[in-house]
Amino acid sequence: MQNIGEKFLVKGLDGKKTLVGEICVNGAKNAVLKAMASSVLFKDGIILKNVPNIEDVNRMSDLLEALGIVVKKTSRKMFEFDVRKLESGNFSPEISKQLRASIVLAGPLLARIGKISFPHPGGCVIGARPVDLFLDGFKKMGAKIKKNGENYIIETKKGKLTGAEIFFKNQSVTATETFMMAGILADGETILKNCALEPEILHLAEFLNSCGAKITGAGTSTIKIKGGKLLSSKGDIYITPPDRIEAGSFLILGALSAKKIKITNCEPAYVESLIELLRESGVKIEVGKNFIEVGSDLSKNILLKAVNVKTHEYPGFPTDLQAPMVVYLTQTHGESMVFETIFEGRLNYTEELSRMGADIKPMDPHRVIVTGPSLLHGRDMESPDLRAGLAFLIAAIFAKGDSFIHNVYNIDRGYERVEERLKSIGVDIERIKINDK
Ligand code: UD1
Repeated sequence: MQNIGEKFLVKGLDGKKTLVGEICVNGAKNAVLKAMASSVLFKDGIILKNVPNIEDVNRMSDLLEALGIVVKKTSRKMFEFDVRKLESGNFSPEISKQLRASIVLAGPLLARIGKISFPHPGGCVIGARPVDLFLDGFKKMGAKIKKNGENYIIETKKGKLTGAEIFFKNQSVTATETFMMAGILADGETILKNCALEPEILHLAEFLNSCGAKITGAGTSTIKIKGGKLLSSKGDIYITPPDRIEAGSFLILGALSAKKIKITNCEPAYVESLIELLRESGVKIEVGKNFIEVGSDLSKNILLKAVNVKTHEYPGFPTDLQAPMVVYLTQTHGESMVFETIFEGRLNYTEELSRMGADIKPMDPHRVIVTGPSLLHGRDMESPDLRAGLAFLIAAIFAKGDSFIHNVYNIDRGYERVEERLKSIGVDIERIKINDK
């Protein structure tokens, strides 16, 4: 069920720092989707725990089911994937166009089935999403590529990929993951260079190794994979790690609007770049083993300073936290330069923040200057993508007056019933069906 027909009504705090209590972080979207895709590397199937109840997980389940995989939700956060009846390598174009992360399935599926077809992922509001790294890598592993309309048809020689040395000209999270998985069922050794370093990659590699894969170097820029047989989980369960983008977004919300909140079930080391930047700006943050505390009780009467932000591959500042950070910077004193280096369309949403009253000057498609502090007023807004959607929610919570945020589906794609968790710390928010008065 898509929630395009739902909106959030948020009653703004008018800059008051009143939020209190604990807010829990769920399993990471960008980890669990890859673990789901990895199921096709297994003889029988896998079990996943701490799975967030989000729309992207539903779409990935639909995609796997359309290939013949049996997906069972065994409890609220636990899924089983039975791949014994997997037969097709043809991605459903309708589903994969809704889910850019579907591309990560291409590597393991091609390695297992020998022939796949998938559509070019549609352009998206955060910029062009090319697939050249994927096509080049498959060619290096001996596959032939044809284009039929908007579909890529990729076929291996004699049903197998061959190990190869692949240098990624850009660091890409999904390309690193798809080839790390493809290498597991390829003939011989695969060496990947200039890999992305995101913690979700290491987490996936550790799980796959515990099930028989031979991956070394995950979490560094060179990953080596010795090809072998189908994997077997032998009862091992994949536990989805906490979502660092969700944790970081709650931390930014806390820096703006909390008296004191505790963000629980998170991994503070994964958001070190954000913590460092907020501290440099004047925010006091307490960090525990798996929690973070923030709020005005910790940093009374401190003037928040402007800071410059430059997005970077992990462990640098995540592009996925750029939009919430810009909301924060509308409330700091002075000028901040925000440089989005990963995606060229990822600052378009700032126009809406300007309409709320923010002072944001575009310099070029990659850079804006934010001058603060400015008074934000509640508005009727449309969530353009999941990360900017959450940023609008944070802005609406901080702002003066009421806001409506439409297209809640774009927030539900990545954040599980976020309004319920926000309510628990004192946010006045309601999910409204579009037909409701
Ligand atoms: C992943 C994350 C997304 C995050 C992004 C960057 C998932 C499901 N999504 O997206 O939340 O914003 O990493 O941290 O994990 N590129 C190419 N050619 C390609 C593929 C990518 O040039 O074939 C470029 C992209 O245009 C971009 C850069 O590589 O400039 C990084 O993109 P990539 O890491 O692939 O993003 P995703 O893996 O799609």
